Amino acid sequence: MADNTISEITLNNGVRIPQLGFGVFQIAPADTKAAVLGALEAGYRHIDTAQMYGNEREVGEAVRESGLDRSEIFVTSKLNNNAHDPAVAREATARSVDALGIGAMDLYLVHWPMPAVGDYTETWRAMEKLHAEGQARAIGVSNFQIGHLERLLAETDIVPAVNQIEVHPYLSQVELREFNRSKGIETEAWSPIAQGDVLGDPVLTAIAAETGRTVAQVVLRWHIQLGNIVFPKSTTPSRIVENRNIFDFELTADQVSRIDALDADRRRGPNPDEFNWIPE
Ligand SMILES: NC(=O)c1ccc[n+]([C@@H]2O[C@H](COP(=O)([O-])OP(=O)(O)OC[C@H]3O[C@@H](n4cnc5c(N)ncnc54)[C@H](OP(=O)(O)O)[C@@H]3O)[C@@H](O)[C@H]2O)c1
Repeated sequence: MADNTISEITLNNGVRIPQLGFGVFQIAPADTKAAVLGALEAGYRHIDTAQMYGNEREVGEAVRESGLDRSEIFVTSKLNNNAHDPAVAREATARSVDALGIGAMDLYLVHWPMPAVGDYTETWRAMEKLHAEGQARAIGVSNFQIGHLERLLAETDIVPAVNQIEVHPYLSQVELREFNRSKGIETEAWSPIAQGDVLGDPVLTAIAAETGRTVAQVVLRWHIQLGNIVFPKSTTPSRIVENRNIFDFELTADQVSRIDALDADRRRGPNPDEFNWIPE
């Protein structure tokens, strides 16, 4: 445990993913290359971007300029909300692959189900074709609720490799994570530290004192022990390093349960059942 190696998870199609990655949501394109290079320098080998974030090109530049072999870095991107129509999905995917400029994506997700816009099972069929054509080594979904997943599982062929959902101590998503697990779908936890919201929590602060770690490290370690895949975002070099150093300590079962007990069903982001936002 003391060697601090980032653990890996094997997805349901055999592809392996580092359990800790680096998220680039809300990093301006001009700052993205330096941030990703900093993360790779700190030892991260997994980057989470999206067409919606507008920084795929800079992520790809960092990967190419890192000096690391392409096969050593796991890159995820996401189909934008304005590209759910299968014909549009094909064109949007080509733009993502072109912007990244690193060959096939390792993981490609439907960013939001957008239940009031079109039919996400049709979009998933398009994803299955793109996967068969080699645009991504694995495909998955993001922000899918149990009902959305049940329709995909009943009406389409490929079981998503992951479901990327909002999870942190104030929204622990017990039921949805358990559903994912029961179907062989890995849970990826977005906003793993609730964009900083949980950092002043007294219970977490106490556990940080008990372990001699920061609150962010305690929360990220809690995710790892739950089996979640996480990719905290930071443009602060010291925090990028801090967030990476979570494999050389362990929370006790009691500490994990005290964090579990903080669940307040409190979202930072939109409710996927109601979010149907289409970018220009
Ligand atoms: N699929 C989706 O719909 C979806 C939605 C949201 C996010 N995501 C993904 O999840 C990733 C992470 O989520 P997120 O960016 O929303 O939130 P997050 O990682 O929970 O929090 C990021 C915020 O916390 C601060 N921070 C990071 N490490 C810290 C530390 N050790 N101590 C104190 N503050 C710290 C950062 O500040 P500084 O940068 O100033 O250091 C930033 O303001 C995103 O980048 C994206 O890849 C996906």
